[in-house]
Amino acid sequence: MISHKIDHGINGCPIIPGDKSISHRAIIIPSISNGVTEITNILKSEDVNNTLEAFKEMGVKIIDNEDKLIIYGNGLKSLKKPKKEIYLGNSGTSARLLTGLLAAQNFDTKITGDKSLSKRPMNRIADPLSAMKAEIFTSNGSLPIEIKGKQLESSNIEISIPSAQIKSALLFAFLNTNGKSTITESKVTRDHTEIMLKAFGADIDIDSKGRKKLITINGLKELKAKNIDVPCDLSSSAFFIVAALINKNSKITLKNININPTRNGLLLALEKMGARINYLNRRISNDENVCDMEISSSNLKGCELDNSFADLMIDEYPILSVAAAFADSPSIFRGLKELRVKESDRLNLIYLNLLNCGVDCNIIEDDLIINPSKKFEIKNNNIRTDYDHRIAMSFCVMGTKIGPLKINDAESINTSFPSFINEFKSVGGKII
Ligand code: S3P
Repeated sequence: MISHKIDHGINGCPIIPGDKSISHRAIIIPSISNGVTEITNILKSEDVNNTLEAFKEMGVKIIDNEDKLIIYGNGLKSLKKPKKEIYLGNSGTSARLLTGLLAAQNFDTKITGDKSLSKRPMNRIADPLSAMKAEIFTSNGSLPIEIKGKQLESSNIEISIPSAQIKSALLFAFLNTNGKSTITESKVTRDHTEIMLKAFGADIDIDSKGRKKLITINGLKELKAKNIDVPCDLSSSAFFIVAALINKNSKITLKNININPTRNGLLLALEKMGARINYLNRRISNDENVCDMEISSSNLKGCELDNSFADLMIDEYPILSVAAAFADSPSIFRGLKELRVKESDRLNLIYLNLLNCGVDCNIIEDDLIINPSKKFEIKNNNIRTDYDHRIAMSFCVMGTKIGPLKINDAESINTSFPSFINEFKSVGGKII
């Protein structure tokens, strides 16, 4: 796929799909609840489809009507042993969350994934689960993993890596475990799981101790079905937001975007950079913060972000780095260690691709430094993505300013945003 330079702005009202994190949870939680859940605006992408297929394989009746997904849940203990191994493609969220859920079932399972997922660390979830006496056998710390389902022991677990995936996996294990179990988090991670579990009537208690967050679940309490309208994904919006900011004569409107404060770091960072973003109709929908947004071309300045931002926007550094390349002063993004274990080593790919695009940048330990210049001397216009959707979409946006850029392995975009290319073209992007 080639992203070309444009000589007009980015304008219009692109349709952003449902939030990926919430969509996964909107399949998992109704599947183990009692009753019928109707879900609207769920993301239809490869990653979410992998979660969906896994629950179908485990005997859950799920009907996909054009405009809504209907899940017939039969309670906490209703899942059946799948006939074959569970293949989760590229989806780290599915793999981590399901590992927690499956560790506490009364059957054994095996989870596999694609090449990229099979390189990602799974000990981060197997280790804390083993405190509950879970039996999880990884392949040198990664997929494939075999899970011996069993009754787990209630526990108090302090999470050492800030990760909503680890937290959520443990919460799903707690649901099926007798007694009270607690997670202690010392850093913020996205809280969609807690929000949805509460809405479904879980016996969940959220407390704080100093700066730490404590989440307690009293297990074996049945959940009750509740309809869900999935808000649109801020992480997917980010590509359009930055495209409009860095291209002259741009103005876009985005509707019904999730701005949950546990993952709105991109918006805070862009505000520091002088982005012109208007927030309209702020409201609460399904217990999540949502709003509409108007974004206009802006003269961005560089910014320094400390490592607390990494907790609030880990998925958005690739596209924020593109924005920083067009600012009028340098940026430093600190504490990006977790970026190295995403769908690719994102820190390295941001660096390599920006260098190839002629941007002066550097990595010092886990910090990324970007020194923008007015002229881009392209060294190599082949963008390496290692099948990482967010790297692919970010450099599509880069292409609007300095293209043509050839984005390799761009099919990865289907994991999170299958309609991206159409929507990008509809607002003035030139992709061939
Ligand atoms: C996700 C959590 C984040 C994020 C991922 C989705 C989730 O990962 O990077 O894209 O849905 O829980 P970590 O919490 O492991 O950092």
